[in-house]
Amino acid sequence: MRQKILDILRSSDGYVSGEEISRRLSISRTAVWKHINALRSGGCEISSVTNKGYRLERGDILAPDEIRRFLKTKLIGSNIVCLAETDSTNNECKRQPQLSDGTVIAAERQSNGRGRRGNAWISPNGGAWFSILLKPAISPRYVSGITLAAGLAVCRAIGCGAKIKYPNDIVIGTKKVCGILTELSAEENEVNYVVCGIGVNISQTEFPGQLSERATSVLAETGENVDRTEMIARILNEFEPLYYEFLQSGAEGYIDEYRRHCVTIGSEVTAAYGGKSIRGVCTGVNADGSIDIKTEEGTVNINSGEVSVRGIYGYV
Ligand code: BTN
Repeated sequence: MRQKILDILRSSDGYVSGEEISRRLSISRTAVWKHINALRSGGCEISSVTNKGYRLERGDILAPDEIRRFLKTKLIGSNIVCLAETDSTNNECKRQPQLSDGTVIAAERQSNGRGRRGNAWISPNGGAWFSILLKPAISPRYVSGITLAAGLAVCRAIGCGAKIKYPNDIVIGTKKVCGILTELSAEENEVNYVVCGIGVNISQTEFPGQLSERATSVLAETGENVDRTEMIARILNEFEPLYYEFLQSGAEGYIDEYRRHCVTIGSEVTAAYGGKSIRGVCTGVNADGSIDIKTEEGTVNINSGEVSVRGIYGYV
């Protein structure tokens, strides 16, 4: 019903009276009013004027049909689940691996959002928090190609000069706007499923504690109020062709574009890896997801799995 009210408001240029909505949907005026309030608490801005009715100012409501309005994909997002709250959309996918290939689970907020290397991921209302469940017929050792594809897809979708900090932080300038957490369930030579979790800060204007120094949002950087639903769809639209390419021939086809977007290449970095700290200059990122770091002792090749790379002079 909420979706129908939203459709009516969207298709009208000006105000629509409660009476008209109630007539068109055969529901009471009180029911209209209740649904309007529910839409408001779900993130829609709806103004109301006595004797005129309601007008949609901004319709950012996290619902499958809202994401589908912008979606051009076949597989990715062929099943979409939207939740008001969950612990983590990655956990949600992992609890339901029977869901179909390409399923996307998104949530308004996460109570226990997870980041790489056991870090927490703060996920209040206002961000795009979602996970893609994938079932590629590949060996687990190729999975990092999917993470590279996801990073590139987010970068393209955000635009406005967004870059990649290896392996998969998306940054604007010197601050992080998005993180990606890829997890998998696999046998020795075969993947059962991959969960690619993506978190984009969309409209937050403040970040708690130390995060304020290195986190940013699309709104803070561009001044633009992008709808979460549109951002999710844009990312999925960019991700699907890269994913198909990956299934065909690995990350070779897009690694050059990844490299062009990667701010880590050419930078002096420290890499925390397996309890050791390595310092040097990043000289490249490879299609298998590994990174080359030129140190005083020679060039070291490190796999993305457990590495944390930071710039010597700051986070990027
Ligand atoms: C990182 O940069 O450390 C990765 C952050 C990944 C956050 C996303 S939000 C959606 C999905 N659910 C989670 O719990 N984590 C990922």
